[in-house]
Amino acid sequence: MCGIIGVLCKNSNAGKIAYEGLKRLDYRGYDSWGLAVKNDGLLIYKRTGKITKLPKKMFYGSCAIGHTRWATHGKISVRNAHPHISQNGKIAVVHNGVIENFQELRDFLAKKGFSFSTETDTEVIPMLIELYLSRNLCFRESVRKALLHLKGSYAIVAISELHNSLIGARRGSPLVAGFANGTFLLASDMQAIAPYATKAMFLEDSELIEFNRKAKVYDIETGKRINKPVKKIDLKLHSADKRGFEHYMLKEIYEQEQAIKNASLQSNALIEKVTKLIKQAEKVFIIGCGTSMHAAMFGSYFFASIASIQANAILASEFQNFLNLVNKRTVVIALSQSGETADILEAVKSAKEKGASVIGIVNVVGSSLTRLADATIMMNAGPEICVLATKSYLAQLSVLYLLANSLIKKHEQAKKELSEAARLVPTIIKTNESKAKRLAKKLKNAKSIFIIGKRESAVTALEAALKIKEVSYIHAEGFASAELKHGTIALIEKNVPVIAFASDASDESITNAIEAKSRGGFIIGVSSEKAKCFDYFFAIPKSKLFSILSIIPIQLLAYYLALSRNLDPDKPRNLAKSVTVK
Ligand code: M6R
Repeated sequence: MCGIIGVLCKNSNAGKIAYEGLKRLDYRGYDSWGLAVKNDGLLIYKRTGKITKLPKKMFYGSCAIGHTRWATHGKISVRNAHPHISQNGKIAVVHNGVIENFQELRDFLAKKGFSFSTETDTEVIPMLIELYLSRNLCFRESVRKALLHLKGSYAIVAISELHNSLIGARRGSPLVAGFANGTFLLASDMQAIAPYATKAMFLEDSELIEFNRKAKVYDIETGKRINKPVKKIDLKLHSADKRGFEHYMLKEIYEQEQAIKNASLQSNALIEKVTKLIKQAEKVFIIGCGTSMHAAMFGSYFFASIASIQANAILASEFQNFLNLVNKRTVVIALSQSGETADILEAVKSAKEKGASVIGIVNVVGSSLTRLADATIMMNAGPEICVLATKSYLAQLSVLYLLANSLIKKHEQAKKELSEAARLVPTIIKTNESKAKRLAKKLKNAKSIFIIGKRESAVTALEAALKIKEVSYIHAEGFASAELKHGTIALIEKNVPVIAFASDASDESITNAIEAKSRGGFIIGVSSEKAKCFDYFFAIPKSKLFSILSIIPIQLLAYYLALSRNLDPDKPRNLAKSVTVK
């Protein structure tokens, strides 16, 4: 959700570095943004909307914090934008997460004479820090004591006009510390600090870090020092530029050839370890949210059809309802691009408390899920910046296909199949991109788009609908094709677009597409063969992995629908890349 950054540096460029870092975090939330710089006093600058120019005077200072917001408490306004400051104006705080007991804390602070000027949950934090500073505690202890009041989740960074340190802390929301020559950084993710830092340290829940001349980590509960390792940063893993593409979304669609290849290049030792865990398990759950949930559903088809193993795909946010089935003979496969999704982390923690083993399938290096899981398979898709999941989805499907095949000792063959599928990606894009552009112009005012498919393609239909909805704001609904006649067909009338995924012209979905056509539907086929009923056709070369590859034309369609409606495909409204609140 929100992106946060903090900088403390020897030269006086803290504001500039924080601003540059913030721009690399804006995919986390973009309702409003703001910075605080410590110069003579604290200078604050806040704006609504996406990040624009920062006045020069904000560039200079020894210490700065910044925030890009995804609103939870309080409407989108300059007032509610972060940083938030204490009553005396001397403490500034940026926060990602949700303080559940903020009302209680406001009442408590109001009785002590504090008054509030925003609707946010965050504002209680600088006020509490001011309260403890007024009791003659040092800055670090004041922050720590303030944090002990909070219920809910947070990653915060705080600075003070009166102290020369930068303080960060986390519980439930991500925070990484970066180190360069004389510069200390704190941020929600590595993207923001990678260009400046050569070394990094991932903070865990209940840890507080204080930077002044050195970095020191403390346990928030006890106040005791903790020794933590600092790791070298591999810059390649975190570099993210558009490489000449107009948008990250298109670039990431194009990168899917490499994403499939990289995802299939897993070490045999790791695959064997994970396979063993799954084989020994009495029950297997695959969990995820959004696109990752679709990958989980795909996984359950793969496990059943390839390895005859039952694996229940469950939404991470609903997993609590299945906890009574979880014990130490359970394996939970948790899918997450970011590795920071709050619903996933909560489900994983609960499963671990019940003794289950957790296998993470994750893209972001060093993310919380990688640290919680008993074994982690990295997707290796590279940074995915567009809010829409595209290449990470194909990478997830590739890993799951590999795993399902490794359960029947066919992973070498699966690797070959995946590499052949990867080779088809450029052809699929080349054949279909201009068609997608034309179709987008035709459909840009559609009220609804219906999408059907059978077996794994029923899941592709769900994913296709999600892509169209989230980026073009056109209502889209995907389902298993046979379901059409059980209700939704009532909505099909003249020219209503229906996308049908059909591996070839004999696919059972064709029958349902014909039923829709008989009611006037405009049928868009995604198939390796042009069936008679198709009014429009996206061609996929014949492949065993049709179900994995066939999403690509619809990702392109979604992208061009957004462009034809003058929308920014990288930052759809109301969304954020990493959903770190519940
Ligand atoms: O980082 P995760 O894979 O855990 O994220 C899960 C969902 O929030 C994510 O897939 C979301 O649905 C995307 N916007 C889909 O394009």
